[in-house]
Amino acid sequence: MQWHTTLVYLFAAICLPLASNAAVDKDSLMLGCGLGEGGGKDSEGREWSPDKKYLTGGNSVTSKASFQDPSLSSEVPYMTSRVFTSESTYKFPIQGTKRYWLRLYFYPSVYSTFDASNSFFSVTANDVTLLSNFSASITCQALSQAYIDREYSLAPLNTDTLTLSFKPSDKHPNAFAFVNGIELTPMPDLFDSAPLVGYSDQTFDTKSLHLQTMFRLNVGGQFISPLQDSGLSRTWYDDTPYLFGSGVGVTNQAAKDVKIDYKTMPQYVAPTNVYATSRSMGNVKDINMGYNLTWVFQVDPNSMYLTRLHFCDFFYNKVNEIVFKIYINNQTAQGDADVIGWAGGIGVPTYKDYVIYGKGLEELWVALHPAPETKPEFFDALLNGVEVFKINETDLSGPNPKPSDMLMKHEEQAAKSFEPEHITKRTFVIGSAAGGAAGFALVAALCVAVHQRTRKKAPGTCTNTSSWLPLYGNSNTTGTKGTGSGKSVGSGNLAMAQGLCRYFSLQDMMQATNNFDESNVIGVGGFGKVYKGVIDNGFKVAIKRSNPQSEQGVNEFQTEIEMLSKLRHKHLVSLIGFCEEEDEMCLVYDYMAHGTMREHLYKGNKPLDTLTWKQRLEICIGAARGLHYLHTGAKYTIIHRDVKTTNILLDENWVAKVSDFGLSKTGPNMNQGHVSTVVKGSFGYLDPEYFRRQQLTEKSDVYSFGVVLFEALCSRPALNPSLPKEQVSLAEWVLYNKRKGTLEDIIDPNLKGQIRPESLNKFADAAEKCVSDLGSERPSMNDLLWNLEFALNLQENPDGLTKAAPLEESEFEEVSLGNSDMAAHYKNLSLGSEHDLNTGDNNAHIFSQIGTQKGR
Ligand SMILES: *[C@@H]1O[C@H](CO)[C@@H](O)[C@H](O)[C@H]1NC(C)=O
Ligand SMILES: *[C@@H]1O[C@H](CO)[C@@H](O)[C@H](O)[C@H]1NC(C)=O
Ligand SMILES: *[C@@H]1O[C@H](CO)[C@@H](O)[C@H](O)[C@H]1NC(C)=O
Ligand SMILES: *[C@@H]1O[C@H](CO)[C@@H](O)[C@H](O)[C@H]1NC(C)=O
Ligand SMILES: *[C@@H]1O[C@H](CO)[C@@H](O)[C@H](O)[C@H]1NC(C)=O
Ligand SMILES: *[C@@H]1O[C@H](CO)[C@@H](O)[C@H](O)[C@H]1NC(C)=O
Ligand SMILES: *[C@@H]1O[C@H](CO)[C@@H](O)[C@H](O)[C@H]1NC(C)=O
Repeated sequence: MQWHTTLVYLFAAICLPLASNAAVDKDSLMLGCGLGEGGGKDSEGREWSPDKKYLTGGNSVTSKASFQDPSLSSEVPYMTSRVFTSESTYKFPIQGTKRYWLRLYFYPSVYSTFDASNSFFSVTANDVTLLSNFSASITCQALSQAYIDREYSLAPLNTDTLTLSFKPSDKHPNAFAFVNGIELTPMPDLFDSAPLVGYSDQTFDTKSLHLQTMFRLNVGGQFISPLQDSGLSRTWYDDTPYLFGSGVGVTNQAAKDVKIDYKTMPQYVAPTNVYATSRSMGNVKDINMGYNLTWVFQVDPNSMYLTRLHFCDFFYNKVNEIVFKIYINNQTAQGDADVIGWAGGIGVPTYKDYVIYGKGLEELWVALHPAPETKPEFFDALLNGVEVFKINETDLSGPNPKPSDMLMKHEEQAAKSFEPEHITKRTFVIGSAAGGAAGFALVAALCVAVHQRTRKKAPGTCTNTSSWLPLYGNSNTTGTKGTGSGKSVGSGNLAMAQGLCRYFSLQDMMQATNNFDESNVIGVGGFGKVYKGVIDNGFKVAIKRSNPQSEQGVNEFQTEIEMLSKLRHKHLVSLIGFCEEEDEMCLVYDYMAHGTMREHLYKGNKPLDTLTWKQRLEICIGAARGLHYLHTGAKYTIIHRDVKTTNILLDENWVAKVSDFGLSKTGPNMNQGHVSTVVKGSFGYLDPEYFRRQQLTEKSDVYSFGVVLFEALCSRPALNPSLPKEQVSLAEWVLYNKRKGTLEDIIDPNLKGQIRPESLNKFADAAEKCVSDLGSERPSMNDLLWNLEFALNLQENPDGLTKAAPLEESEFEEVSLGNSDMAAHYKNLSLGSEHDLNTGDNNAHIFSQIGTQKGR
């Protein structure tokens, strides 16, 4: 039956790439400590077995945690534990010649009479000390996390048994040890010898050494869960919390037509998602020459670290186009990094290892800078991923982190604030990437964040602009002349934002806009006027100047700085900096050469240069990506609240970028469901449910975006009061016509004859679902993206599809729309993240399968 064939193909296309990931080595163990006979499954569907049969000695009891922290990503393995009251050991059969991952999972809770805050213990694996005087409770408190995972890579132990011992500390009365989960998996030989930074021509052999994973980041990309890893169940976090100063560069994503080609490198080194995203410095030479793109990691002092840098250039393809220096701890680790030269071509991944001894240092710095000496064509630098491992032959333990004063203060405030504690807690970890999954990487996230904040000047002392690294690093700006504003910035949040973006003086703003000359006004919004401006001798920016009377303005100004300074995405407008001085408030953005989406659809109802259907689809897809990122990418949901065609801007390459976060609200995190709030937004785009119930969910943005889709189709405003009553609201008018079958009559006449009917149907159906009365019936941004991509594909590659489609059209709906089994499965397999859609591989694969099933 045709229908089944389609499903099977889709299924195969989706599942096959994952099958290898999910493959579990028969030697590997995943033990849920204290789990009963049957074991259990975690939220990703992985099976955990009971630990009992490996236990060989000591006194232990099993116990269930007395409460479940709402941020626990999964009940298994965290909610059950084994508590050790005397030294106890597990014995695991291993192969003496193999390297193993050992992962330990800790959830410090109260286990019957055992309160984890009294627990101090050490853990050893054969002769290797992994932890000593360890307090999971203090560690988690310092990280503001409910639970923590530790990952070790043990070198071949030359024996067939791994003895894992838990020993309560004898320095603390009544101390006990506990553990919630143990994972032991053989792993490939990932490590070899690497150059020792600071000692030219010396290498350091890591093959036979034990490692502890300190950080693992998908640079310029997003969180990658163990199941999405390329077979080694690693977790990759977002790199933004580790960026130092305000020179954060730009993030890039491989274009659809670039295939990540591993050549001879094994794919387990790192997944495609790591290599298909990167962070680079930007495309302005002078700016790049003026700063270092820097990441700072909090580490234990006096230890050896292996830093593995992952590279893949999916943009340039020639040797010597980009050559840069790599500094580790301010020492040159590499003077002439040329990714294409190393890898051999565009889209080919590679990695480089460097070993450094961090003498007396609690930080590890990785910095990139162009290498002009090599006369490259472009002065830029890039990085796709980074891993930092602590190395030692016998002892990997370190001290417990100290919860910082700042954190303690924050927690006090959080307790006082009106929000339930866990929400505030999580909001605090904003930007530290891993929503549900706590982990080693977070250890540093907070330390660094707190550290950076303390390093920046305290609020009220921001009178010396040269003390911030400007975002674009160009120290030759007018701001560095030290025109002190003499005014307090007045908010801790702003002070925090200063770490992330550049501060401008009022004088800078006046120079940039020719004293706010009216001829430079390019837009007017609720916040005030928007001016075109020029900074740094020719860099174009858009400057939003507040209307000093507007009280709302102040709040939105601050919201926007906080939000935007933390969010970087190809489809979000980048905030460059801000100015607050003498009642003036300005926000400085990247200049968007092609203005708003709206002005290209209609202006006073007169079509300007008409966009083609393909262009419109691409703009909608871009904007949908931006919104999808807001909803899911930051790991705490951000609801835009004012999605409309004037808030979708177009850069010189017609790339759509979502702007105007002034109204944004940090949304619920999965479980809570909604945020109650005062109704705000723009008429014509407002979600009726939000209006009725004053409850905001990300589905409110989906509604507004549905109206945007209608505008793209019909080229008319969302509300046009001058029209007959039934036509005033675009959403109602489109729905009315769609149901009557007269949609074709109201679409933009310029598009007539241009849109393929399949593409139109797909698009219109998706848009209609967006404006469903009930939020629950609207698709997620992710499902919507899928459908828009599908509509574009139907427009572009009609041949295979039209042949496949005629009879099966309705089944296609089943397959591709959000509520079908297949789409649900698609989601369950976690293929739904933006990267998966963007790498194109999966989609192209799916589409080609659909396309070629015609003969069957
Ligand atoms: C390993 O750890 C021990 C104890 O902390 C330390 O003395 C030694 O220098 C470390 N070795 C390396 C290679 O870092
Ligand atoms: C690197 O240099 C910067 C400034 O020059 C300094 O603040 C930082 O502590 C140094 N980092 C290391 C690891 O030495
Ligand atoms: C970049 O880092 C290196 C090593 O710390 C330092 O020597 C150099 O001055 C830095 N460059 C800039 C522009 O900050
Ligand atoms: C154990 O850790 C605690 C908390 O970090 C610390 O106060 C104590 O001094 C440590 N004890 C030893 C023996 O290192
Ligand atoms: C601004 O900071 C720089 C470097 O930190 C310092 O040399 C200068 O004296 C400061 N200027 C003022 C006005 O505080
Ligand atoms: C700095 O500004 C001066 C004067 O405007 C200009 O001549 C010089 O080229 C600029 N230097 C850089 C690195 O931009
Ligand atoms: C996907 O997950 C949801 C809830 O997690 C579940 O109800 C549904 O049955 C799953 N779908 C498939 C196809 O496994």
